[in-house]
Amino acid sequence: MKLAVFASGTGSNFDAIVQAIEAGDLDAEVSLLVCDRIEAPVVEKAQRADIDTVVFNAKVYENKAAYEQALLKDCQEREIDYIILAGYMRLIGPTLLKPYENRIINIHPSLLPAFAGKDAIGQAFDKQVKITGVTVHFVDDGMDTGPIIDQEAMRIEDSDTKEDVQKKIQAIEHQLYPRVIQSLQVKEDAK
Ligand code: GRF
Repeated sequence: MKLAVFASGTGSNFDAIVQAIEAGDLDAEVSLLVCDRIEAPVVEKAQRADIDTVVFNAKVYENKAAYEQALLKDCQEREIDYIILAGYMRLIGPTLLKPYENRIINIHPSLLPAFAGKDAIGQAFDKQVKITGVTVHFVDDGMDTGPIIDQEAMRIEDSDTKEDVQKKIQAIEHQLYPRVIQSLQVKEDAK
């Protein structure tokens, strides 16, 4: 199963996926990293791992359809099976959604449908919820709205700072995302 990871930032989930593959826990190949910010640390991580990288600047394209058309070509040329969003800070439009229907997934640091959108960890922390977690879902045309594939919950202790919560969420993400991707792979094999 060939994966394209789309990311805009640090890339800790990207790393977790690559490491799960190296450890033999995930039967897949990251064939492409797509990033919309040249300065994002994930770009260097992909280069270190010798993974093909496409960095694009959305501003030089006429519109979303134009840059997504270019990204679609990048994915199709490499016969990408699944697009894995890992901190990709753009909504996916129909140009990619249609050809990759049910083949684009996202990870979000809350128990959706609670705390969709930006800074989900901050939103949960500010509301003083006691239980939060991580969701992996298929991507549709909304913001964090597609069908949920899996979730994992965690408790926010009274003594936890926002940074503590962030660390706990990340630790869950790094286990959950490769596991969910592996479950998709198992379903592919069964087809
Ligand atoms: C993760 O918390 C993920 O849930 C959210 O963006 C963050 C990306 O972090 N969608 P990283 O770049 O993988 O470290």
